[in-house]
Amino acid sequence: MKHLLQYFLLLFLIPKICFTIIPAVHSLCTKDQQLSLLHLKKSLQFSHDPDSDSYPTKVISWNSSTDCCSWLGVNCSSDGHVVGLDLSSEAINDGIDDSSSLFDLQHLQSLNLADNHFTYGTRIPSAIGKLVNLRYLNLSSCSFYGSIPKSIANLTQLVSLHLGLNTFSGSIDSISWENLINLVDLQMDDNLLEGSIPSSLFYLPLLTQLVLSRNQFSGKLHAFSNTSSDLEYLDLSENQIQGKIPHWIWSFSHLYYLNLSCNSLVTLEAPLYNSSVSIVDLHSNQLQGQIPTFIPFGYQLDYSGNHFNSIPSDIGYFFTSTMFFSLSSNNLHGLIPASICNATSFLMSLDLSNNFLSGIIPPCLTAMRGLRVLNLARNNLTGTISNFQVTEYSLLEILKLDGNQLGGQFPKSLGNCIQLQVLNLGNNRITDTFPCLLKNMSTLRVLVLRSNNFYGGIGCPNTYGTWPVLQIIHLAHNNFTGEIPGIFLTTWQVMMAPEDGPLSIVKFQLDTIIAGKSMLIDYSFNDRITVTSKGLEMDLVRILSIFTLIDFSCNNFSGPIPKEMGEFKSLHVLNLSRNSLTGEIPSSFGNMQVLESLDLSQNKLGGEIPQQLAKLTFLSFLNISYNQLVGRIPPSTQFSTFPKDSFTGNKGLWGPPLTVDNKTGLSPPPALNGSLPNSGHRGINWDLISVEIGFTVGFGASVGSLVLCKRWSKWYYRAMYRMVLKIFPQLEERIGIHRRHVHINRRWRR
Ligand SMILES: *[C@@H]1O[C@H](CO)[C@@H](O)[C@H](O)[C@H]1NC(C)=O
Ligand SMILES: *[C@@H]1O[C@H](CO)[C@@H](O)[C@H](O)[C@H]1NC(C)=O
Ligand SMILES: *[C@@H]1O[C@H](CO)[C@@H](O)[C@H](O)[C@H]1NC(C)=O
Ligand SMILES: *[C@@H]1O[C@H](CO)[C@@H](O)[C@H](O)[C@H]1NC(C)=O
Ligand SMILES: *[C@@H]1O[C@H](CO)[C@@H](O)[C@H](O)[C@H]1NC(C)=O
Ligand SMILES: *[C@@H]1O[C@H](CO)[C@@H](O)[C@H](O)[C@H]1NC(C)=O
Ligand SMILES: *[C@@H]1O[C@H](CO)[C@@H](O)[C@H](O)[C@H]1NC(C)=O
Ligand SMILES: *[C@@H]1O[C@H](CO)[C@@H](O)[C@H](O)[C@H]1NC(C)=O
Ligand SMILES: *[C@@H]1O[C@H](CO)[C@@H](O)[C@H](O)[C@H]1NC(C)=O
Ligand SMILES: *[C@@H]1O[C@H](CO)[C@@H](O)[C@H](O)[C@H]1NC(C)=O
Ligand SMILES: *[C@@H]1O[C@H](CO)[C@@H](O)[C@H](O)[C@H]1NC(C)=O
Ligand SMILES: *[C@@H]1O[C@H](CO)[C@@H](O)[C@H](O)[C@H]1NC(C)=O
Repeated sequence: MKHLLQYFLLLFLIPKICFTIIPAVHSLCTKDQQLSLLHLKKSLQFSHDPDSDSYPTKVISWNSSTDCCSWLGVNCSSDGHVVGLDLSSEAINDGIDDSSSLFDLQHLQSLNLADNHFTYGTRIPSAIGKLVNLRYLNLSSCSFYGSIPKSIANLTQLVSLHLGLNTFSGSIDSISWENLINLVDLQMDDNLLEGSIPSSLFYLPLLTQLVLSRNQFSGKLHAFSNTSSDLEYLDLSENQIQGKIPHWIWSFSHLYYLNLSCNSLVTLEAPLYNSSVSIVDLHSNQLQGQIPTFIPFGYQLDYSGNHFNSIPSDIGYFFTSTMFFSLSSNNLHGLIPASICNATSFLMSLDLSNNFLSGIIPPCLTAMRGLRVLNLARNNLTGTISNFQVTEYSLLEILKLDGNQLGGQFPKSLGNCIQLQVLNLGNNRITDTFPCLLKNMSTLRVLVLRSNNFYGGIGCPNTYGTWPVLQIIHLAHNNFTGEIPGIFLTTWQVMMAPEDGPLSIVKFQLDTIIAGKSMLIDYSFNDRITVTSKGLEMDLVRILSIFTLIDFSCNNFSGPIPKEMGEFKSLHVLNLSRNSLTGEIPSSFGNMQVLESLDLSQNKLGGEIPQQLAKLTFLSFLNISYNQLVGRIPPSTQFSTFPKDSFTGNKGLWGPPLTVDNKTGLSPPPALNGSLPNSGHRGINWDLISVEIGFTVGFGASVGSLVLCKRWSKWYYRAMYRMVLKIFPQLEERIGIHRRHVHINRRWRR
């Protein structure tokens, strides 16, 4: 799968432009060129910020006693004129204005100033228009400010113009783009540009790649009639473009990438031509009506996060080569058309989650051979799940059917899924015993059966449980009974692997950011507004991919807690509350070094709290209330920080934070009258977290679509991050290092 994806990326995404313009010839540079360069060197100022990830290497080595054509970052033509100048990543922060001797280098064909950090308020000098021989100009990621100078239209030889990742603002409508008839590649992404997108741009005869994403362009896409353009790659995502998607967009005969996601588009203009576009991303707009079916060659179609309301019944016939198809988070009603099964074997990922689809799951759907991700979660699907027919050697990796009204027994054919990683059947009406056939799956990472009618024991007699990579097992709100068999747990290696805490991985991540330049660029410079949340996003994904949880709460388990659980040295969350467990809390629990949350409340546990529990220094949530525990609460600074509620309703517990000594009034358990204390983990939504894990584990492609838009991701990651910080409080300290960097980067930008 990964290979296939890489193949496609190679095939489609590598810009098909070659620059064969700079002759790399060594010769004596002319006196005036040398003087201009030395003047330039003298005028440039460099950032001396010790936290900077780049520092001057080229310019400082320029030495008047050597041939300037041999200087680092300088290329000359055969007659000794400077034709190429590469001053990228030189930590230049000032010294280029209209009078700069840079603009005396009249023969320049290639100028690269990318990845410098000019002081706040630095504009591109309009003298740039003097460099009329420029063919290649890269000013991306320079912290440039203000409007793009009109004189740029003087550069009629330009083939490639990169102005992305700056803070350019204002309209670009008044620039005479039509002069730039040689332009092949134009990128102005990640700025604050506004106004309408000049239509004069789509007429550029050679334009192949146009990237205007992440700006504030508004208005409508203008009418256009010539179908002859060479446009191959068009990214207008994350703007405020309104109205319709004009039909001419489909008429570019070479277009393979079209990204209009995260705008305010409402309709698709008719007529809809069949088109050669391979990647179509329309997610997070306000598109309405029936979903369009006219793109036979699209291999990735993302229509998620719109207001589409119906799927045409013949949808399947249009998937001649589709591999990824998402309709998630729309307004879809009605049945899932059976024709969807007629899609070719290319279909790998089908996401119809978060809609209002009803009726049964078409039986043929699960028989589709190539399918690796099937997400039908949070719909209104009914019927029995028992005859869900997965073919032998199915490639399914992620199956999410949670949040429907599916009844019947657990489908036996799921035993055919030899690569299953995530299985979420939670919040349905399945009535069955524990699905022992899953025990053979060594790839399983997430198993969620919560809120169904599963019953009986969870021990499996004739299998040797494996699940070496299991991270999440969520069986809460069922009717499981019997003992939790210790032997059942002994092969869950990921939960047992001793590690020095989740933070080591996070720290590694941060070290990478500090030491590795590319990471810093990717996650800080490249995203002006979401700088912070991008960093958080990375940490979050990392954390979630190592997160471990066992939730057996709200069942009818009885007998003692198996002491084997103490071997789960990598377990973060353990919830056994609201069962009928007896016996003592195993002293082996003291080995669960990274345990953050422990809930054993509302059981029948007796004896004393083992002293070893006081060793759990990561523990930030504890609830052992409403049991029959006695004796002194182990004196520890950790334990005294928990609220009284964590310990109430026991037979004879005493000591801080309850009463200080055992003579003066033990608090007898108040009557259990149904209104039990909220077991809400201080507001942490564990479900949300385990849903996220479903996304992050194993398969990065199924990330929730809203998260992919700037305007949502900031809020989303903040909220998620706050939650995660409650689980990993120690993280904040480490993140502090990262924040500092972010702060510095921002200062450069402002
Ligand atoms: C320039 O080169 C000369 C001769 O190679 C050398 O003596 C001198 O130190 C160099 N100057 C600088 C500033 O590097
Ligand atoms: C000089 O020319 C070589 C070969 O074309 C190229 O790789 C290099 O990037 C050029 N350097 C500059 C400063 O333009
Ligand atoms: C311009 O510079 C940026 C940042 O260094 C780089 O990512 C991009 O590839 C460059 N553009 C071209 C056309 O080389
Ligand atoms: C535009 O280019 C011409 C030479 O072709 C030059 O004389 C003029 O100054 C340039 N204009 C600007 C604004 O740089
Ligand atoms: C339209 O395309 C034709 C080639 O098919 C070209 O000759 C003509 O100049 C184009 N018109 C415009 C306005 O770009
Ligand atoms: C698009 O392609 C389909 C299948 O090849 C064909 O039936 C349909 O007529 C085409 N539509 C247009 C508008 O060309
Ligand atoms: C679509 O699939 C059904 C079975 O699911 C089959 O009977 C039918 O012939 C298929 N149609 C096409 C056009 O392949
Ligand atoms: C779900 O389906 C039931 C009938 O099966 C229907 O009564 C209910 O309105 C549906 N809910 C939604 C949100 O469509
Ligand atoms: C587990 O796999 C073995 C051999 O691969 C097979 O004999 C056994 O029946 C399987 N058990 C279950 C419960 O599917
Ligand atoms: C749980 O199972 C028991 C029998 O094992 C049954 O009596 C009880 O009704 C079940 N409870 C629920 C809520 O299904
Ligand atoms: C009260 O404390 C004493 C001494 O600390 C201890 O011996 C006794 O067992 C305790 N009583 C209860 C009910 O825990
Ligand atoms: C489309 O653009 C959005 C926002 O810039 C981005 O998150 C998404 O990954 C892009 N889609 C594809 C298929 O590249």
